Amino acid sequence: MKKPYIFITRTLPEEIIAPFRANWDIQMWDSEEKPVDRTILIQETAKADALITMLSDRIDEQLLEQGAQLKVIANLAVGFDNIDVKAAQKKGIIVTNTPDVLTETTADLTFGLLMATARRFIEASDHIRNGNWENWAPLLLAGLDIHHKTIGIVGMGRIGRAVAHRAQGFHMNVLYHNRSRDTEAESALGATYVSFEELLQQSDFVVCLAPFTEETAGMFNAKAFQTMKSSAMFINASRGANVVEEDLYEALVAGDIAGAGLDVFTKEPIANDHPLLTLKQVVALPHIGSASVETRQAMMHLCLENINLVLSGQQPKTEVK
Ligand code: DGY
Repeated sequence: MKKPYIFITRTLPEEIIAPFRANWDIQMWDSEEKPVDRTILIQETAKADALITMLSDRIDEQLLEQGAQLKVIANLAVGFDNIDVKAAQKKGIIVTNTPDVLTETTADLTFGLLMATARRFIEASDHIRNGNWENWAPLLLAGLDIHHKTIGIVGMGRIGRAVAHRAQGFHMNVLYHNRSRDTEAESALGATYVSFEELLQQSDFVVCLAPFTEETAGMFNAKAFQTMKSSAMFINASRGANVVEEDLYEALVAGDIAGAGLDVFTKEPIANDHPLLTLKQVVALPHIGSASVETRQAMMHLCLENINLVLSGQQPKTEVK
């Protein structure tokens, strides 16, 4: 019998893939760093029973039309805004993602980014590397306190809760805004539900962890930044398109807010000459929220497990509904 054909849109470590080679015919795009060419992806989709895709791959209706025998798309991310899930479902193609396994790692990065922004880690490191450290000085690279401040989390999902848990350890007052109230987070984490406007008005750190949807697109705009305290900082570890980047830049330059920590951007990779990268009060990271070796390996294993379940006629562990 012909083995199922699996196409993976980046090169993943062979030791993770190897156990599946006996039962599947597996091909990988031959780069770990560069996204697969669209034309190759279309050709591969036409042959594939399953795809493992990255958040940088656009899986739209046109591509899905090619998937004559495609049964499952396993996205190596918790977010799935790169996939037209409705179009996939219409064709009977199952989409899976990688929740849970990346929650704690992404929360670590998010809280670390908040700390780096408030306490100016990158500027301070550059200060030494550029040979500028001549003396200790009372206000040299003084940042903002984090402990006992108010954090406002927009998007109280798994990662939001894990960030709130970290904030508790810093004795922070935790506010959150979400589509619906999360009574578990309220009782277990002492988080208080507030409107989006109240959260913006009261928080010292506004943290965006909401997935990208039609409702969240551009929700952090000029009005939102003007509502924030001028001493407050904005942290984004979900999706760049939740932010109007021109408005964020203007708000930082005008002093409407004090700083921003950004792991995600509207266009990734962000252009080197992007205005946001000229501001010293911006800490910018290349979308590394879940990027620990252990977590990325766990995400790969979960993708493979989901494919295995679907191809053997079972329910995948983490289907996108
Ligand atoms: C995801 O998995 O969606 C995250 O953005 C990765 O960091």
